[in-house]
Amino acid sequence: MTTLARAVQNLGRSGPVLREASASGNLRVLASLLGPAYRGLVMQEARGTQSTAMPAGHTAVFDWSYLRDRPQLTRLYEAAKSSQWNASRDLDWSISVDPMDPEHPLVPEEFHPISTTPAWQKLGREQRLRQRHDLLAWLLSQSLHGEQGALFAACQVTEAVPWLDAKLYGSSQVVDEGRHVEVFHGYLTRKLEKLYEINDNLYTIVDALMTDSRWDVKFLGMQIMIEGLALGAFGTFRQITGEPLLKQLLTRIITDEARHVHFGVLALQECLQGLTERERREREDWAFEVSLLLRNRFLAWEFYEEHWAHAFRRSEWERLSVESRLMGVFRKTMFKRIVPNLRRIGLLSPRIRPRYDALGLLAFEGGRAAPELTANDLLEDV
Ligand SMILES: [Fe+2]
Ligand SMILES: [Fe+2]
Repeated sequence: MTTLARAVQNLGRSGPVLREASASGNLRVLASLLGPAYRGLVMQEARGTQSTAMPAGHTAVFDWSYLRDRPQLTRLYEAAKSSQWNASRDLDWSISVDPMDPEHPLVPEEFHPISTTPAWQKLGREQRLRQRHDLLAWLLSQSLHGEQGALFAACQVTEAVPWLDAKLYGSSQVVDEGRHVEVFHGYLTRKLEKLYEINDNLYTIVDALMTDSRWDVKFLGMQIMIEGLALGAFGTFRQITGEPLLKQLLTRIITDEARHVHFGVLALQECLQGLTERERREREDWAFEVSLLLRNRFLAWEFYEEHWAHAFRRSEWERLSVESRLMGVFRKTMFKRIVPNLRRIGLLSPRIRPRYDALGLLAFEGGRAAPELTANDLLEDV
């Protein structure tokens, strides 16, 4: 297929996403998401390539006053320093991961999106296990790509945030995210021996916050939305997998991510208070658009194209995925993390609440925000 023909086909498929990207009716938000959506969904810039260059466009701010005047961030930085771990030493990489081992299932059968269909019943035991392996490899590949985005976002925010305490804390997050890239890449290549490309919708979100020049939007995108997605996904996998090394590494990573979301809430609470009402509304609409993308579009398309495009139409796959047990648990865990934080930083005003309500997401607003949650709470409460 020619590049143009593929672009036209992708444009057709992107219709629902583009409709959602304009759901808030905020033209400034739409404009900020259109470029990333074009590059991610229509041109599929990250597919079949070894690297992608993205212009960053933010301003690095030096703080010559070196004032240490934010004690909550200082405490978080101290906690981060004393919680560092070494991925090559502190995880038991000698555990052998066998996707065919029924004693330690990677993903339980009932969580596979098509496990309720006749097509699944026709598969032999080995094929089913292979499918469960590949689905996990897809999910963890997206985690790996998200972690690379988190690594760069942490670098950018460390440069752009104006307060020294936040820069120092940010430096610890850079190390954390680098370690997470190391761990997921190690697990995928050494244990699952399979790596998928980045999903187009995830690419769109990562591109949007990498290229936005406003540091608080990067912060909102990464520390609240993508970290919420990560906590949702990691909490879900940790709960359902029977594979001990994966459980071990997710426990470690969730503990780090808890600090990152806490940092995001503290910094954004202060930053958003200084915005005009119009600027605040724009952030509120932006977060809503990203919520829609996370809720509706994270549907393992690459896995579908590899295994099931011959048997199901895209719309049928979409329905099966949205209604699957896996996505149900994942969505619940993700929004349980995101919605209380949006409320805490002031992005869940009466103006936007009906939209979240229509998606059934207000059910989570009474939950605890990141500053009230310990890492243990996150591990126990999925
Ligand atoms: Fe991370
Ligand atoms: Fe993180």
